[in-house]
Amino acid sequence: MNGMTKPNISVNIGQIRMENPVMNGAGTFGYGGEYKDLMGKLGAFVTKSITLQPKAGNRVPRALDLNMGCMLNAIGLHNVGLEALIKEKLPYLRQFKVHVIVSIAGDTVEDYRKIAKILKSKEEIVGLEVNISCPNVKKRGVAFGTDPKIAYEVVKGVREEATKLTVITKLSPNVTDITEIARSVVKAGTDAISLINTITGMAIDIHTKKPILADTTGGLSGPVIKPIGVRMIWECYNCVCKDANIPIIGMGGISNLFKGLRAIY
Ligand SMILES: Cc1cc2nc3c(=O)[nH]c(=O)nc-3n(C[C@H](O)[C@H](O)[C@H](O)COP(=O)(O)O)c2cc1C
Repeated sequence: MNGMTKPNISVNIGQIRMENPVMNGAGTFGYGGEYKDLMGKLGAFVTKSITLQPKAGNRVPRALDLNMGCMLNAIGLHNVGLEALIKEKLPYLRQFKVHVIVSIAGDTVEDYRKIAKILKSKEEIVGLEVNISCPNVKKRGVAFGTDPKIAYEVVKGVREEATKLTVITKLSPNVTDITEIARSVVKAGTDAISLINTITGMAIDIHTKKPILADTTGGLSGPVIKPIGVRMIWECYNCVCKDANIPIIGMGGISNLFKGLRAIY
């Protein structure tokens, strides 16, 4: 650094002390192997969301390139499952010497509890990110993260089981009022919130007049969603997180640091 002192950009998220505030979004780095060169540079790494049993995900086509870095995906939580995570992926991740946060998902509140209970004793992990954007099979497939009561139950369950792990709750933007959900999960004891997950969208092939994705709708991500993420973070900060002193991990469309925005009128 030519004699210059290294700036201190460390942050605390719950019990996790990160050297820098940069993390990947769950599901965009798999289990770390595809981005080996970047792993050691992250403040913390978040795995693909893990379910109790492995999942093959949705039918293809399940991802669509919308150009300019944006995409629609309906991957459907394709993941190796809890057992393979513990036996193969966590030992593999040790080499990177990076804080590991496991993203967890389930079909029922009980699933989340069970995963948290099993993962709490794994020394490779510092935290859990609770993905509440998935469908609740006991409530006609309505996502956990769209109902403040169910979001509360899930996070409370994980909080009770996970004991010493830092609990982060990842919010879905597919709601009318995100502050209601944020308030619920803070009440349930989350240490931090992260947002936003993808925004439900749909694309139609004008020739076949049919949806392009096999599952009809998918989650929109990429630079175009950033203003929505920023707005929701601002709402959560003002309404809940500022007073409760809850850190917010912002994501959605972040693609560069230095490119400024310019008003056009
Ligand atoms: C292919 C793909 C897979 C994803 N898988 C997950 C996942 O397993 N769990 C989760 O919480 N979010 C998942 N996400 C959402 C991202 O973590 C992130 O919240 C979202 O893509 C918005 O950020 P971005 O615009 O920077 O991609 C996935 C996103 C993509 C594009």
